[in-house]
Amino acid sequence: MSEPKPLTQGIPLFTPELWADGPPHETFKEVRSKCPVHYTPDMFELPDEDGFWSITKYEDMKIVSRDWQTFSSELGGVLTATNVLPLELMRGMFISMDPPKHDRLKALFQRGFTPKRIAMQEDEIREIVRDVLSRLEGQDSCDVVHDIAQPVVARVICRFMGLPPEDDMMWSELMNTILAANDPDVNPEGIDTVMQRDIPIVFERAQALITERRENPTDDLTSVLVHAEVDGERLEEHEIIMGFFLLMAAGNDSTKATFSSAVKALLENPDERAKLIADPSLVPSAVEESLRMFPAFANFRRTATKDTEIRGTKIEKGEKVVMWYASSNRDEDIYEDPDRFDVERNPEHQAFGAGGRHFCLGAALARLELKILLEETLASYPEMELDGKAKYVISGFVNQLKELPVKLGPLQHA
Ligand code: HEM
Repeated sequence: MSEPKPLTQGIPLFTPELWADGPPHETFKEVRSKCPVHYTPDMFELPDEDGFWSITKYEDMKIVSRDWQTFSSELGGVLTATNVLPLELMRGMFISMDPPKHDRLKALFQRGFTPKRIAMQEDEIREIVRDVLSRLEGQDSCDVVHDIAQPVVARVICRFMGLPPEDDMMWSELMNTILAANDPDVNPEGIDTVMQRDIPIVFERAQALITERRENPTDDLTSVLVHAEVDGERLEEHEIIMGFFLLMAAGNDSTKATFSSAVKALLENPDERAKLIADPSLVPSAVEESLRMFPAFANFRRTATKDTEIRGTKIEKGEKVVMWYASSNRDEDIYEDPDRFDVERNPEHQAFGAGGRHFCLGAALARLELKILLEETLASYPEMELDGKAKYVISGFVNQLKELPVKLGPLQHA
């Protein structure tokens, strides 16, 4: 029979009210200090879901993230709610696979993410960012999320995959709807429509692109994947399609989230912004600090494959174990004054994962994109100011703003 959980547990960490203004940092602080391996018995509005363990300290995250034999990505997928996206769909993507399946696919996909291929994106990304920023010239104000971040990340990932600019909006809307399939605000038609209409559209279009690139390879990622070979192994068509889906989902949302929060932090901390404007060589450090403070995903999940223990707390086989990057990146045992945004801190952090096999495949691309976005935004609109309250997507998973209204000030030409 399972043992009763300690009484200091039970905070309903996914309650929407807790996330109305971004991650509940005060709550996490309390959990870290009083009960860092913490159990919540249910998942708020999802009655069919089991409860979950929360890992909130930096060092504990490393243990879970690196030990795939004990903490599986495949058994229950990587989302805390098992039933939001069908498990079979999740498990078709290598983010939700364990070795050896995971390792084979990751090695093949890594062919498209070599440092050389990423570095080659720099000029293109800069051009995309400058184009988006210059389109705002003459406007008094804008919304950083919709008018800067969204069009940039959509073009960067679509271009990287080999998709034409006229399809950027369609892809972002499609991926946003699929990722928020259960949120009636984003997807009033319900999850069945997503399964029956939207996901088949992604698959059909991906398939058409793959067929085309098999015959006429270009320099895009789809061409690299179609022809990638590691130790005589190649990717099968359904593997490329599922990988395409994963990359489009990961590429569309994540960088947008960290960039928008970084801009908000800079506008709220004018001294920090002034340091970056005076010395743009600090931007890479500011990027790391933004990733630390505003990780695009608040968490990813594992499932215990056997009875185990963390920090003396027993976790049973089959239980969900949630790694909270939103908490570990502010662990006071690691960071001095963790809630202070300091563009000179240049910290190590866990925004891209806490190590091990599932470390983010797109980290180098995301870092490059964030660096260029910050450099160009600060240089183009150095007088930008907040113009109203920022609004967060109310979610315990994606940590992102949905609106960041600003006054632009005059465009400075490079
Ligand atoms: C600020 C930007 C980003 C953040 C914070 C981020 C965060 C993460 C995290 C935390 C994981 C680990 C998941 C786990 O351990 O279960 C991950 C995995 C992954 N990310 Fe990212 N990501 C970002 C951008 C991107 C981009 C731009 C791409 C692709 C274009 C990408 C592709 C992936 C893929 C394919 C995986 C799965 C890797 C694996 O399972 O081996 N990410 N990401």
